[in-house]
Amino acid sequence: MSNFLHTSRLLSSRNLFSPLAKHFFELYLQVNNMPAEHKPVLAQYISRELTLQSNSIVVDATVGFAGHSSIFAQQLSSDGMIIGMDVDPKCLEVAKQNLSDAKCKVLLVRSNFSEIANVFRENGIESADLILADLGICSGQLADMDRGLSFGQDMKLDMRLDDRLETTAADIVNSRDEKGLADLIFKYGEERASRRIARSIVSYNQKAKIKTTGQLVDIICSALGCDPNARKNKIHPATKTFQALRIAVNKELENLEIFLDAVPSLLKKNGRAAIISFHSLEDRIVKNNFRNNKAAGIYDIITKKPIVADRTEEIENPRSRSAKLRIAVKI
Ligand SMILES: C[S@@+](CC[C@H](N)C(=O)[O-])C[C@H]1O[C@@H](n2cnc3c(N)ncnc32)[C@H](O)[C@@H]1O
Repeated sequence: MSNFLHTSRLLSSRNLFSPLAKHFFELYLQVNNMPAEHKPVLAQYISRELTLQSNSIVVDATVGFAGHSSIFAQQLSSDGMIIGMDVDPKCLEVAKQNLSDAKCKVLLVRSNFSEIANVFRENGIESADLILADLGICSGQLADMDRGLSFGQDMKLDMRLDDRLETTAADIVNSRDEKGLADLIFKYGEERASRRIARSIVSYNQKAKIKTTGQLVDIICSALGCDPNARKNKIHPATKTFQALRIAVNKELENLEIFLDAVPSLLKKNGRAAIISFHSLEDRIVKNNFRNNKAAGIYDIITKKPIVADRTEEIENPRSRSAKLRIAVKI
C-alpha cells in the first residue's frame, strides 16, 4: 500500500515568501523546536560531479532542508524540475522556504523513498536525470525535541522520522527480551558490548519503563562503566545503541534496499544515481547494489572508491567525517 501522503506543491514563483511570511515561518520553526540550519555534506563534489542541463529533472529523495537541492536549483531554468521527497513534514516546510527562490519547478512530496516509483506514477513523471539520496538525518532533526533522537539532550525517546509509524524506540526497549535487544544492538549498531547493554536495559525495565533519551544514556553508560561526559570518549558511548534503534524504528536498511532496486527503472539513459551514506551498513548495501547492477549491464560505476570529505570540510562540518558518496550512471 502506498504511504504517499500528498503535501506536494508546485512552486515556481520567485517571491512566494514575503518578509512577513518568512517571519511567521521562523516562528513556526521555533515553536516546533526545529533549527533551520543544515550544512549539506560533500557539496563541492555534488556540484562538480553531478552537473545538470538547465532542463534536467532531479529527484532529491531525502530533501531535508534542501541544502543539496538549493545547489541544483542554481543550475536549473524554468524548464527544469526538482522533486523533493522526505518523510518528515517539518523538513519539507524548511525545504519549501529554502527553495522559494528557485526558477525551476519544485514538487515537494511527503513520502518514504521506498515509495519513489509511486511518486513518479502519481505525478506523471516518467524518468529523471539524477536521483540523489543523502541518507540519515539532518542536524535540525537531532535537536528536534519531538523526534527524540538525541543523546546530547534529554528528550522523549521516540526516534520516528515519520510520525505515522507505529513503533517508537521506547516501545522497542520496553518490550523486547534480552536476546532480541542484544541482537538488534549488535546487528544495527555493530556494538560489541550489546549483551551487557541489553542486560542493563532489561534489568531497568523490571523496575520502570524507559521514557527518555537521558534515561537510556544513563543505562548504557552504567552498563559500559563509563562517564558520558568524559572527554577521552572519542565517540559518545551511546552512539552505536542509538544508531541501532533509529535504524530499527525507521526500517532504514529495508527501505534503502527497496529504493535502490527501484532507481534504475526511473533513470533516463545516462541518468545518474548518487547516494551519500554515513555508516558501513548503508554503504555496503549501496556498494553491492551498484556492483550487481554493473554486472547486469545496467550501471557504470563512476566512483570506483567512494568520495569522502577533505580535511577542511571535516573541520567545518563534523557530520561530513563519515559521509561516503557513490555515483553510478545508467547505461
Ligand atoms: C541527511 S538529511 C538530508 C539533508 C539534505 N540533503 C540537505 O542538504 O538539506 C536526510 C533526510 O532524509 C529524510 N529521510 C530519512 N529516511 C528517509 C526515507 N526513507 N524516505 C524519505 N526521506 C527520508 C530525513 O527526514 C532527513 O530529512
